[in-house]
Amino acid sequence: MDPDQIRNWRPSRFSEVVGADNQRRIRRLQRKLLKGRLPTPLMLVGVYGYGKTSLARLLLKSLCCEHRNPVTADPCSDCQWCRCFGKIYNGYGQPYRRCECDCTTLNRTQLIEVLDEHRFEDDVALFMDEFHHLHEKRSQEAMLKFVEDFDGLLITAIMEDRLEEVIPPLRERFEVIRMSPPEEHEMVEFFTMMSDAWKVRTKHDVLHFMVKESGKSFRFGIKAHAAAADEPDRTLTESLIQDLLGI
Ligand SMILES: Nc1ncnc2c1ncn2[C@@H]1O[C@H](COP(=O)(O)OP(=O)(O)OP(=O)(O)O)[C@@H](O)[C@H]1O
Ligand SMILES: [Mg+2]
Ligand SMILES: [Zn+2]
Repeated sequence: MDPDQIRNWRPSRFSEVVGADNQRRIRRLQRKLLKGRLPTPLMLVGVYGYGKTSLARLLLKSLCCEHRNPVTADPCSDCQWCRCFGKIYNGYGQPYRRCECDCTTLNRTQLIEVLDEHRFEDDVALFMDEFHHLHEKRSQEAMLKFVEDFDGLLITAIMEDRLEEVIPPLRERFEVIRMSPPEEHEMVEFFTMMSDAWKVRTKHDVLHFMVKESGKSFRFGIKAHAAAADEPDRTLTESLIQDLLGI
């Protein structure tokens, strides 16, 4: 796989979301998806970098996919709706039109515009990422009204330590799914599998070093593999990891 593809990697199958705790929660969602729906509104909660955005996109992709796997609910990654998935306000699928907005870039006027655009559309699956950026009480009240009116599907992703800033009447309306940081050994197993898939040569103790020294960072692990793939011999070594970490 070329370095940029590694850099942009995200799970495209539910089984690729690492962590036994996460898998347990996801299994319930997979069962719902097989019936063609998801609980709504849904809030993915977790600390920085442990798969909130990735899972939300995967859920919506599965929901809209024409050839969803009948056993795992994995999206096919190949139909027109899977392939058109990009970033902001894009991706039109069936039975839902899939929309994504990043709350970091929304001011209050834009938020109201987004909500008004979709308020009475029941065929929209709206993903609001970085939901903690709507910390203003007035924005949250607008959200509360929207959640009451909206018959489509709403998924939000929020940083765990900001959850308490969400006003209780809004928070209580959501079904909460927690994304937990996996165990160290689960991450090492994951990167062992991915080094192989990405054709990067490395050793088990190097991967262990990488996971430990980076503070169990998926983003770092992926970046280190992309950097190794940039090298002519495609080898991930302890010294490359040290360079990247600046240690
Ligand atoms: N549990 C996981 N299993 C597999 N890959 C993961 C997992 N968690 C994170 N990743 C990988 O780490 C990267 C960051 O994940 P993602 O952007 O989904 O996290 P996030 O929780 O949305 O982070 P942030 O809080 O910064 O928005 C992605 O490339 C993703 O593939
Ligand atoms: Mg995110
Ligand atoms: Zn598909």
